[in-house]
Amino acid sequence: MTNIFENRPGIHAEASNAGNFARRTTQEWQALDAAHHIHPFSDMGSLNKAGSRVITKAEGVYLWDSEGNKIIDGMAGLWCVNVGYGRKELAEVAYKQMLELPYYNTFFKTTHPPVIELSKLLAEVAPEGFEHFFYCNSGSEGNDTVLRIVHQYWSAVGKPAKKYVISRKNGYHGSTIAGASLGGMGYMHEQMPSQVTNIVHINQPYWFGEGEDMSSDEFGLKRAQELEAKILELGAENVAAFIGEPFQGAGGVIFPPATYWPEIQRICRKYDILLCADEVIGGFGRTGEWFAHQHFGFEPDTLTMAKGLTSGYMPMGAVGINKKVAEALINAGDFNHGLTYSGHPVAAAVAVANIKILREGGVIDNVKNVTGPYFQQSLREALADNPLVGEVAGVGLVAGMQLTQDKATRKRFANGGEIGLQCRDHCFASNLIMRATGDRMLLSPPLVITKSEIDEMVGKAKYCLDLTAKELGML
Ligand SMILES: Cc1ncc(COP(=O)(O)O)c(C=O)c1O
Repeated sequence: MTNIFENRPGIHAEASNAGNFARRTTQEWQALDAAHHIHPFSDMGSLNKAGSRVITKAEGVYLWDSEGNKIIDGMAGLWCVNVGYGRKELAEVAYKQMLELPYYNTFFKTTHPPVIELSKLLAEVAPEGFEHFFYCNSGSEGNDTVLRIVHQYWSAVGKPAKKYVISRKNGYHGSTIAGASLGGMGYMHEQMPSQVTNIVHINQPYWFGEGEDMSSDEFGLKRAQELEAKILELGAENVAAFIGEPFQGAGGVIFPPATYWPEIQRICRKYDILLCADEVIGGFGRTGEWFAHQHFGFEPDTLTMAKGLTSGYMPMGAVGINKKVAEALINAGDFNHGLTYSGHPVAAAVAVANIKILREGGVIDNVKNVTGPYFQQSLREALADNPLVGEVAGVGLVAGMQLTQDKATRKRFANGGEIGLQCRDHCFASNLIMRATGDRMLLSPPLVITKSEIDEMVGKAKYCLDLTAKELGML
C-alpha cells in the first residue's frame, strides 16, 4: 500500500507512538504539571505545593494512580463515565472513524453518516416529541445553545420581548460566561464582572437546608411558586424560559420535594414560558430513566445533554428540542450559531456506540431495577447510625449525603465546608473517589457498577463518614 504521507511535511518517527507517553516518576510528573498546567476550579498555589494525584489508567469502575494505588471511582470521572472505563468497542469505533473521516464540519449544507445516525438514535431514546438535536462539545456550550434557541424561538413566534431567563441559586449550568450566568454559584459570579444580561435567579428547592419548619411538600410548592412571583414581577410578556437541573448535581445532589416540578410545569404552561431541563448529569441513565426529568414526571421543551452522551470517551454536548420549538426554529430562517466541532464525526460515532451499550446492554434497566435500589438501600442502611449524616438523597446511582450537626432539627454546621473536605481527605487516603460539595458528600459511580463493587464503595464511604464523625466527637 502506498504511504499517502510520503513526501509530505509534518510526518516524523514519533508519530507512531502518539498516545504512549514516557514513564516518569510521580515527582517528575507533579513537577512538570506544576510548571505548566493550570487546573480547572483550583487554587494553583496550594495545589502546586501539594502536588496533583496522577491518574495513569482505568478499567471498569477503578482508577490507578502513578503510585500503583487502585481507587474505586464513586464519581464516574465527573459524573460522565456511565459505561465504565476500558470499553474496547468505543476505542475501536473511534479508531475506525478517525481513519474513515476524522473530521468534517456540518456547516455549509453538509452532513455525514455519524451525525445522522446519532440524531436518529437520540430521537429513539429521547422522550416522545424530541426529534431534533443540535451538537456542541460540552454541557456549558449546550446551555449557551439553549439560550440562543430560546431567543430564536420567541423571535420566530413574534414575541421578541420575551427575553428573561429564570434559573436558580446554587444551580450549575457550566463554566462558559452564559453557563455561569445561568448557574447560581455566587463564587463564579463574583469572579465575572461581565455576565450575560436578562438572567435572574430564584431560590433553590433545598428542603434540608432552607425548609425551616415546613414539610418537604409545602416547601417544594413554596419554592416553585417563587417562579410565579418572579414572572409576575418581570411581566410574563417579558419572560422567555425557566431552566433547571431535574436534581441539582454540582450543587450537592439536591433532590427537590415531590411537589416541586409539577408546580414548576404548571406555572410555565400558565404563563407561556419555555421549560428547559439541564440533563447534563441526569441524562443517559443516572436515575434509572434515560433522562432525570422522566423520574420527576415533567415534560420540558429543551434538553441539554453532555457527559453520559459519550460516557466521557469523547467531548460532546447536544441540545434536544421538542416539536413545538423545532418547528419554529426550522421556519425562522438562519440560526446564527455553530461550532467548528458541532456534530464531530468521531464524537458522534462514539456516542452512537455508547448509547447502544446503554440500550442493548440493558444498563439503564439494570440501574432502575437492580443496582440503583441496591445502592440506595445499602447506603441508607450503612449510614443510619451515623449522627453526622442528616439525610441521604437520591435515586438510581446518584446520592447526596448531608453533613449535619443535629439530625433531628436539621441543623447545619457553621463550618460544614471544612468538614466536607475533612471527610474527603479520608476518602482520598482510602482510595475512594467521593466528592464534597460544601457540607454534602456525593456519590455517582459508573452505571455498570456491580453489587459487590457497590458493597466496597458503600463500605469505604461508611468508614470515611464514621471516621469524620469520630473526629468531631459524634460517634
Ligand atoms: C447540570 C450541568 N450542566 C452543565 C454542566 C457543564 O458541562 P461541561 O463541564 O461539560 O461544560 C455541568 C457540568 O458538571 C452540569 O453538571
